[in-house]
Amino acid sequence: MAEDALVRFENLGGIGVITIDNPPVNALSPGVPEGIVEAVERGNADPTIKAMVLIGAGRSFIAGADIRQFGTRRPPPVPGTRTHEVLDASAKPVVAAIHGYALGGGLEIALASHYRVAVPSAKVGLPEVLIGILPGSGGTQRLPRLIGPKAAMEMIVSGRHVPAEEAKGLGIIDELVAESADLRQAAIAMARCVADTRPLPRIRDRDDRLADSKTEPGLFDAMRKSIARRARNQKAPYHCIAAVEAACSMPFDEGTQRERELFDELENSAEARALRYAFFAEREVAKLPDIPRETPLRPIETAAIVGAGTMGGGIAMSFAEFGFPVKLLEVSQEALDRGLQRIRSNYETSVRRGSLTEAEMERRLKLIEPVRSFDDIARCDVVVEAVFERIPVKEEVFKKLDEVMKPGALLYTNTSGIDIDIMANATKRPQDVAGTHFFAPANVMKLFEVVKGTKSAPDTLATGMALGRKIGKISAMAGNGDGFVANRSRGPFGIEMNIMIEEGALPEQVDKVMVDFGYPIGPFATADLSGLDIGYDSRQRRTAENPNYRKMPIADLLVESGRLGQKTGAGWFRYEKGDRTPHPDPKVARMIKEKAKELGIEQRSFSDEEILHRLLFASVNEACKILEEGKAYRASDIDVMWLNGFGFPRYRGGLMYWADGIGVPEVYRQIAAWHQRYGERWAPALLLRQLAETGTPLREAKPGRAM
Ligand code: 3HC
Repeated sequence: MAEDALVRFENLGGIGVITIDNPPVNALSPGVPEGIVEAVERGNADPTIKAMVLIGAGRSFIAGADIRQFGTRRPPPVPGTRTHEVLDASAKPVVAAIHGYALGGGLEIALASHYRVAVPSAKVGLPEVLIGILPGSGGTQRLPRLIGPKAAMEMIVSGRHVPAEEAKGLGIIDELVAESADLRQAAIAMARCVADTRPLPRIRDRDDRLADSKTEPGLFDAMRKSIARRARNQKAPYHCIAAVEAACSMPFDEGTQRERELFDELENSAEARALRYAFFAEREVAKLPDIPRETPLRPIETAAIVGAGTMGGGIAMSFAEFGFPVKLLEVSQEALDRGLQRIRSNYETSVRRGSLTEAEMERRLKLIEPVRSFDDIARCDVVVEAVFERIPVKEEVFKKLDEVMKPGALLYTNTSGIDIDIMANATKRPQDVAGTHFFAPANVMKLFEVVKGTKSAPDTLATGMALGRKIGKISAMAGNGDGFVANRSRGPFGIEMNIMIEEGALPEQVDKVMVDFGYPIGPFATADLSGLDIGYDSRQRRTAENPNYRKMPIADLLVESGRLGQKTGAGWFRYEKGDRTPHPDPKVARMIKEKAKELGIEQRSFSDEEILHRLLFASVNEACKILEEGKAYRASDIDVMWLNGFGFPRYRGGLMYWADGIGVPEVYRQIAAWHQRYGERWAPALLLRQLAETGTPLREAKPGRAM
């Protein structure tokens, strides 16, 4: 086999070393499975080979099937020739040597091998469910035989990556070798050790671990019940359970056949297509068309946050979670103490709930260093300003940062809407300034919007994007402008939900429609959770700036009558003491009715579809305006923002992907009709009209001039 082959075979002293070399992650693209099969057959045919090692070149073992191949026409597999079947039939032992990732089809190959050795940093998993399918190469049949149906189902239904140490405990990995050891040598040594072991340990032949399903017959129904809320509207998680159930009730070959049938039902399902789209959209978003990929990044080893309020504290927690030491600055000792106390109590809640260990809490708290003077942060590589959302306060901080920070330090501002240039122009180094917009709660929400100021240097932006990824976020670039991209595109949704209430819809109806659609929580319940006073204050500010600003009289009335949301036990809904469940409140219905009467707004009923379309089409239209103005690179970036910032159901792909499913001409027709009926706020984006006329999907829209 040639040096540049996808799969290489070497005879190293009687051990056949099979190396998969398909960068970047050794996905099983066409040629790779065939190469592995050929190599295993070659090893079996060569009398000088005693055993084999399967290893990945580069940074990983095998990250799974090539996702780009799904949904394309492929010849059906010839029975008996698939990688896992050929490994099963191998007369000589095969040792899988795992580093980086063994995911999906990659772990399935390792499970069809006879032994598994890994380094501690490796991760294994069957994440197929996350792209709307199930493990289709025997994973649902072998894993339960190896670790029992309960643990297997938990892994398969969650799709989580299991660290090697835990995988060893579960019995997936036979041996761990030190990180510093040469994995290949260690695997070769193991292969020599087991070369003469017969019979070969084949997972397919085991059934001792399947006994759990007999002793706990309600296991599968209990699992179905436990995922009912999270998995609503989806098929894949249920098919995963059915496949494991088949492993427990059928002989191996029949179970594998059942797994294949279930897999085939999913591969082209709407949810699988949407989830594949989301997978690639989240990778595409990292690509910045106007900034060269090779732009050198600035160092970001030492970081500081200015402001220990709710946002600043949440940002500090994000850094600490990923092992970054971070200085947290508040000039007043009292504010600093309050901020630290809030962080500690957030952690303590997680410890109480069991999602964080006490030791991990202490480790993270140690990483957050409270400081009170700007001089204490002067040597940091990066500063994230997270002070009060008022222009003069932020300007003051940037003047101070400009005075003290070392040359080349990155100066980021966390704002949800203030013009980045104002902060940049408060310094003599506007090239080092950009926006980094965290979403509340900052330590939980994945979205991280990097906002480009007029003078932001390319490396300031590229490093901002990398910083977000380092702290576990999904970074997305946005142009500067009111609300940037995410909040601006969400804005009209917020307006329409209020206007529909004036016209006769009830909060509970709107929330039900959106929860049925797939949101984890309805928009009115979300507003209650955040506090209705936030929107109220911003409306007051906007009305003062612009007398034509559309007022929200009912939302204002709630706040003015003391209903601020969950924190006051009443908002759009009412809440029982100590309980977060929203209950419809007849008082709110009455308040709505009376206010609408006073305003002379005619009341009518709404269909669920009208509610859904009113909310989402309004945002699609705004998103088109954003693209038209060149404030976002791609429609798919906006989808990534909605998936990670606003709880849009992932299995629907994102706002724009969903709208493409309805069809741009239909979306345009409806928006144009609402324009006639409701006036200016529904004026269709020019870009939307053009796309409708040319039959071009939103996903293929070319944005306006560069950001
Ligand atoms: N197929 C095709 N391309 C893949 C891929 C896959 N399975 N996994 C990663 N890639 C590509 C990415 O698109 C990206 O391409 P780009 O550079 O052109 O944007 C590149 O590889 C690097 O990927 P990441 O940026 O995601 O790299 P990370 O280091 O951040 O993450 C990873 C690595 C954890 C392996 C992550 O890529 C991942 O989760 N991959 C998908 C794993 C997966 O779902 N495997 C199961 C596939 S389905 C299957 O195996 C079916 C079987 O049961 C029959």
